[in-house]
Amino acid sequence: MPPTQQFLVDLKRTHHCNALRISDLGSEVVLMGWVHNRRDHGGRIFIDLRDREGLTQVVFGPDVDAQAHALAGELRGEYCLAVKGRVVSRVSSGGQPNPRLATGEVEVEASRLHIFSRSETPPFPIEDDVDTNEQLRLKYRYLDLRRPSLKRNFLVRSQLYRSTREHFHGEGFTELETPFMVKYTPGGARNFLVPSRLNPGKFYALAESPQIFKQLFMVAGFDRYFQIVRCFRDEDLRQDRQPEFTQIDVEMSFVVEEDVYRIMEGLCARIWKDALGVEIPTPFARLSYDEAMGKYGVDKPDLRFGLPLTDLTSIVAKHGGAGVPFFQNTIADKGIVKALRLPAEHAAKMSRTEADKLEEFVKQYGARGLARAKVGEGGEWAQTPLKSITVDARHEINAALGAQAGDLVFFQFGSFKLVNAVLGGLRLHLGNKLGLVEKDTWRFLWVTDFPMFEQVGSPPQDGGAGGPQSGHGQWVAAHHPFTSPRPEDVEHLSVDNGRVRARAYDLVLNGNEIAGGSIRIHQRDVQQKVFEALGLSIESLQGKFGFLLDAFKYGPPPHGGIAFGVDRLAMLLCGADSLRDVIAFPKTQKGTDLMTDCPTEADDKQLDELSIHVKLHGA
Ligand code: AMO
Repeated sequence: MPPTQQFLVDLKRTHHCNALRISDLGSEVVLMGWVHNRRDHGGRIFIDLRDREGLTQVVFGPDVDAQAHALAGELRGEYCLAVKGRVVSRVSSGGQPNPRLATGEVEVEASRLHIFSRSETPPFPIEDDVDTNEQLRLKYRYLDLRRPSLKRNFLVRSQLYRSTREHFHGEGFTELETPFMVKYTPGGARNFLVPSRLNPGKFYALAESPQIFKQLFMVAGFDRYFQIVRCFRDEDLRQDRQPEFTQIDVEMSFVVEEDVYRIMEGLCARIWKDALGVEIPTPFARLSYDEAMGKYGVDKPDLRFGLPLTDLTSIVAKHGGAGVPFFQNTIADKGIVKALRLPAEHAAKMSRTEADKLEEFVKQYGARGLARAKVGEGGEWAQTPLKSITVDARHEINAALGAQAGDLVFFQFGSFKLVNAVLGGLRLHLGNKLGLVEKDTWRFLWVTDFPMFEQVGSPPQDGGAGGPQSGHGQWVAAHHPFTSPRPEDVEHLSVDNGRVRARAYDLVLNGNEIAGGSIRIHQRDVQQKVFEALGLSIESLQGKFGFLLDAFKYGPPPHGGIAFGVDRLAMLLCGADSLRDVIAFPKTQKGTDLMTDCPTEADDKQLDELSIHVKLHGA
């Protein structure tokens, strides 16, 4: 038998490299792993042996086994090996315990060494806290993944999947699969296309989510479905977006919102308990979309700190613009006026120059400026361009803000969208800059009652799951067109679309949207009214969603569901900064894989087979 196989047959691994403790003293053990580092001391060779679970110090001495000691002289970083030896106390062999390692009180005195394979010097050190550039790390991702902190993320992610499956099976859900290669439906996120060789000139789309199929499972009577599923969206990428990402996708029959919330809160509590040992209190906090926008300027507020916004529009309107021309124009243009109050204790930490700099900061949100006022002892405003404000209006604004001497107040006026984007962004910036964000805390929040529609020109939330979209100024579904309107708003469909609220909800965690879903429409007449409100006839949709509309002729149950963004969930759970730290083989910002060098051109023969002719723009 070749020596490697001999070793693997005769000497089985007894422990992983994070297992040995003082209670194991004297045991004969076999460990396998990689050389994390190596040191020579007074004729003895020390290595830290690393595997998935951790590190163990191994020592080779000529007095213990001359052959093993001689071979250990050849060891270098990242060699892959097996050792057999006895567990001894570091102190009694004259060393020092290492309190940073779980195995730090012991070491293994090696009596046998077998090198499975040698390693070239890696292109970067396999250590945490290294400053290697990400491009290089992604090119050698299999080495990057050897780093303990990165590896831990995947062990946590694996636990997340296990808890998810246990939770849903325990709640009577069935795990079902849906196709990746699906019919292209316009609207929502942009799809990747897959050419069909057998049907020249025709394409599949890669599913952006299993939305339609999971609703068909409800029609089919599966009652409760879940799936851990890959989704594909050809979006512009950011830190929290990948072109292929994973959802925990859920659909349930005979439910209302509360039922979905209960199941999902149970899932989160279970994941946090299993993965981090943290108890998450349920039920979660809730805010309507209007409340979230009003108080925080965003539909995914971070509740780990205060600094709420105050809407001053009605006060300013009551005072006929309050003597401030900007305010007068805003009211005339049907805009809004809002303010953020930075309490004196925080304002005191900010110099005038720093406050001036915020004016530059908010320009990225489209602001032209950032009016502010420093509140004086008698409630007067200093350092402000709003000098012409009437005394009465100022008193009323101060009262609405709860303003105290020393506070700084930041104002923004203009369209609803601009004002909220600016102050929402400013709030986050100040929270971080002034260290107001509570550490090690998990603030889950349901945001409910989203608007049913939005007008083209404003992109759908987070790529959206899709709906037929058309020309400019046209109403489009904010979530997707199968989302149910609130029953009391059905009468506003087509009459006042902007007023219709959807039975849609998002789950937000520490300012990140981690899940989104809705109660769906199951009544044909309501579906028809929604399509009409979107300016679409049932006939025009026949080609796109005909199969779904047909299915809904055959007794669809009331149903609703949700999808979790697992990558975002894992990112937060692991305290990672980027989705790339929780996806084993991620894509770069430009959608490329640096390790396999993908995407690549296809050769002519392949393209011919697919009846495709490539025409590059500008070529
Ligand atoms: P939605 O489009 O809101 O809903 O997606 C659900 C969740 O998936 C995550 N997510 C992403 N994560 C990483 N990269 C991306 N590109 C990306 N896009 C979305 C987010 C989001 O909350 N079918 C509906 C769900 C339903 O109605 O049941 C859907 O897909 O965390």
